[in-house]
Amino acid sequence: MKNYDSIEHVRGESLFVDDQLTPIGTLLGYVACSPIAHGRIKNIDMTKALNIKGVKAILTAKDIPGENQIGGIIKDEELLADKEVHFVGQPIAFVVADNQIIAHEAAELIEYDFEKLPVITDPRKAAEAGELIQPPRTFKLGNTDEAFAKCDFVFEGKVESGGQEHLYLETQGAFAYPVEGGGVKIFSSTQGPTAVQRVTARILGIPMHKVEVDVLRIGGGFGGKEDQASPWAALAALGAKILNKPVKLILPRQQDMKITGKRHPYSSDFKIGLNKEGEILAYEAVFYQNAGAAADLSTAVLERTLFHCTNSYFIPNVKATAYCCRTNLPPNTAFRGFGGPQGMFVIESAIAKAAEEMGMSTVEIQKKNLLDEGDEFPYGQRIEHCRIRRCFTELEKKYNLYDIKKRVDDFNSSNKMYKKGFAVMPVTFGISFTSTFMNQASALVHIYTDGSISISTAAVEMGQGVNEKIRAVAQKVFSVNSERIKIETTNTTRVANTSPTAASKAADLNGYATQKACEILLGRLKKVAAKELNIEQHNNISIQQEIIFNKDEKTDLTFDKLIQIAYFDRISLSAQAHHATPHIHFDKTKEKGQPFAYHAYGVGIVEATVDCIRGTYKIDSVKVIHDFGKSLHPVIDKGQAEGGIIQGIGWMTMEEVLYNEEGQLLTNALSTYKIPDIHFSPDDIQVHFLEDAPNPYGPFNSKAIGEPPLMYGIAAYFAIRNAMKKFKAECDIEFKAPMTPERVLLSLYQKTTVLKPAN
Ligand code: MTE
Ligand code: HPA
Ligand code: MOS
Repeated sequence: MKNYDSIEHVRGESLFVDDQLTPIGTLLGYVACSPIAHGRIKNIDMTKALNIKGVKAILTAKDIPGENQIGGIIKDEELLADKEVHFVGQPIAFVVADNQIIAHEAAELIEYDFEKLPVITDPRKAAEAGELIQPPRTFKLGNTDEAFAKCDFVFEGKVESGGQEHLYLETQGAFAYPVEGGGVKIFSSTQGPTAVQRVTARILGIPMHKVEVDVLRIGGGFGGKEDQASPWAALAALGAKILNKPVKLILPRQQDMKITGKRHPYSSDFKIGLNKEGEILAYEAVFYQNAGAAADLSTAVLERTLFHCTNSYFIPNVKATAYCCRTNLPPNTAFRGFGGPQGMFVIESAIAKAAEEMGMSTVEIQKKNLLDEGDEFPYGQRIEHCRIRRCFTELEKKYNLYDIKKRVDDFNSSNKMYKKGFAVMPVTFGISFTSTFMNQASALVHIYTDGSISISTAAVEMGQGVNEKIRAVAQKVFSVNSERIKIETTNTTRVANTSPTAASKAADLNGYATQKACEILLGRLKKVAAKELNIEQHNNISIQQEIIFNKDEKTDLTFDKLIQIAYFDRISLSAQAHHATPHIHFDKTKEKGQPFAYHAYGVGIVEATVDCIRGTYKIDSVKVIHDFGKSLHPVIDKGQAEGGIIQGIGWMTMEEVLYNEEGQLLTNALSTYKIPDIHFSPDDIQVHFLEDAPNPYGPFNSKAIGEPPLMYGIAAYFAIRNAMKKFKAECDIEFKAPMTPERVLLSLYQKTTVLKPAN
C-alpha cells in the first residue's frame, strides 16, 4: 500500500506554495510587526522605508478597502493594527517589493511611536483583571459538594501545561494574483480554504465568488493552519488587488515562530475525591486557558478541554469550569488534540497525586474507573461501542504490567544514579467537530471518457494521507485500479463551503461524501451495462476489478468500454454529493447533548530512564494498543499514531515555549526551541491495532486517527516523574509540563522549581 506522494516527497519534487511557478514580475511581501506587546499607535513613519529602491508599496489599515477584520468565531482581530497593538508580532504594515530582501529591509526601517500600555502574559492574572474572551463555562454531572462529603480521600492540586510550536515544515504563506473583474486567485498553505476565501472577501470588500482559493497540499499544519493561514493569504491578495500584480508572501521561519499562535498553555486547579477502594466519586477542575490577544479558535479549544476533562473515566460527580483568558501574547490556536490533551493532563495529574498519597498504584485507580458501555459523560452523551476496557485488557495480555514493574524495580535497586519509571495512559477522544454545523463535506467526481477518474473534496492533504484514504474509498466503490483515480487540489470553486481539514474528521466526512458521489455514478453505470447486456435487473450488475459481472458471471464488458458506451448514450459522468454527520447535537444553554459521532480509544505504556545526576532522560519505549476501526490504510494509520505519539512526548518533555514579561518570545528558533529528533525518539515504539473492531460510524468501518495518539505522550511526563520518585521519594515535583531536563534537575536538587526566563 504505497502513498502516491512518497516518491516525490523523498526526491523533493512535491510542490508547496513557494515552489509554484510564478509569472515574471511577481512581487514579494514582508510583514512589519509590532515590537511591543501592548500600546497605542501614535505615529508610523514610513519615509525611510519608502525611499528604498525596489519598494512598491507599504500598506496599512487605511489601505484596506473592506472590513479590517479576520476574527472567525468572534470578530475581535484586525488584519493590520489600526490604533492599538496587543501582542509582539502583531502585523501593522505590509511591505511589497521586488524581492523579499528589499521588503524585509524596508520593514526594519519603519519607525513607530507608541504609548505603551500594561502587559499581561499570565492567564490567572488576566482572569483577575476581568480580561475574559467569553463568560466562564461549566460542565456538571451529579453533585460534587455532596459527593466530596462522602469521600474517604480528597486531594487538591495545581497543574500547568505549556504551549507548543507547530513547526510545520512549510511555513505560513500564500501567493495571489488579480483576475479579471476585480477578483483574486490565491494559492494558500491552509487547512481551511473556505476560511481563507471568507476572510479575503471581507478584507477586500468583494463577494466570496470573486475569491478562488486553491490548495495542492500543505507541508504540515497540525492545527496551526486551521484559522491562522488566512491573514497571510489576505495580505497577499490585498497587495495583488491594490498593485494589480501577483504577490507572494512566505513567512521566514523565525518570524513564523514569533508572530503566529501556538498550543494554548493552561493553568488549572483540581480537586479529586475517592473511596478507600480507589473509586473516583467526585472531581472538580478549573481551567485558565491562555488565549492570547484575540479569540481565534480559543473558545472552541476550551470547549474540548471540558469535553475531555474526565478522559477515559466514568466519574459520577463532576464540575469543570473553564476561563478563556485574554493576554498580550499572539492569539493561540488549534493544535493536534485541540484542548483535549490539556484537560487530560489535569485528570491524570489528579489520579497520580491520589495514588501517591493513598499508596495505591496509579494503574489500579485508572483501571478501576474506566468507562463502561452506557456511562454518561459530564456533557450528557452516553458512551456507545465503548472499547477502552478491551484496549486495556489487550495491552495487559501483550505486556504483563507486573513483569514491566518487576523489570523496572530490579533496574532501580541495582542502579543508584539512573532510575527507570513507567506510566500507563488510556485515551478516549470524541470524534466530530465540537461545533455541530462544521460536520459536513462534499465531493465532486468526474469520470473522463478514457475511464480516468478525478475526485475533488474539501479535504486538504497535509501529510496525514487523507488523499490516499479518499482514493481507497473510490477504489472500493468502483472496484477499479487505483491508478485510474486522481485526487485533485482542494479548490473553493469545485467544492464550496468547506470545513477545515481538522478535528481528525477529514477522512470520515470527505470519505463518506466521496462514497456517495461514486455510488451515484456506479448506479448510472449499472443501468448502462444492463441495457448493453440486455439484462432486466441492473441490480445484478457489479464491477469486479475492472470487469463487469452479471450476478457472478463475468461479461465481455470492461470498465473502459462501459464508460465509452455511457458517454455515447449521453449519460452524465459527473456527480456531486454532500455528507452531514447524523444524530449529533449540542445545547450550549444546558451544556448537554451528543456532540460526538463516536469515540476513539486506546491505551499506551511509556517507559523512561532518568539520569538523576544530570537531569537528562531517555524515553525507552512506547507500547500502544489502539482502536483504528477497520483501517482504510494501515501504513498511513500507523504513521499517524507514531507521529502523534512523538509530538505528544515532545509537548510533555522538551518543547518549551517561553515569553518574557514584556511578551517577547524567547524561544524563537530551533536553537532555543527543541523538538524530538530521531536520536531522542524511543528505539522501541510498538503500535498494535485492536483486532476485530469495525466502526459503524466511519466510511467502510474505518476510524479517525489524526489526533488521538498524541495523548499517549502524556505518559512520558509521568514515566519521568515516577523515575524521579525512585531517586528521591520525598521530592516534591510540580505537575508542570514540559518536564525539561532543567526542571528534572531543579526538582531533584532544589526546593523551589520556578524557572524565571532571563530577559
Ligand atoms: N499529520 C501530518 N503528517 N501533518 C499534519 O499537519 N495534522 C494533524 C493530524 N495529522 C497533521 C497530521 C491534525 S491536527 C489533524 S486534525 C488531522 O491530521 C487532520 O487530518 P485528518 O482529519 O485527515 O485526520
Ligand atoms: N476540532 C478542530 N477544530 C474545530 C473543532 C474541533 O473539535 N471545533 C471547531 N473547530
Ligand atoms: Mo487539528 S488541531 O483539528 O487541525
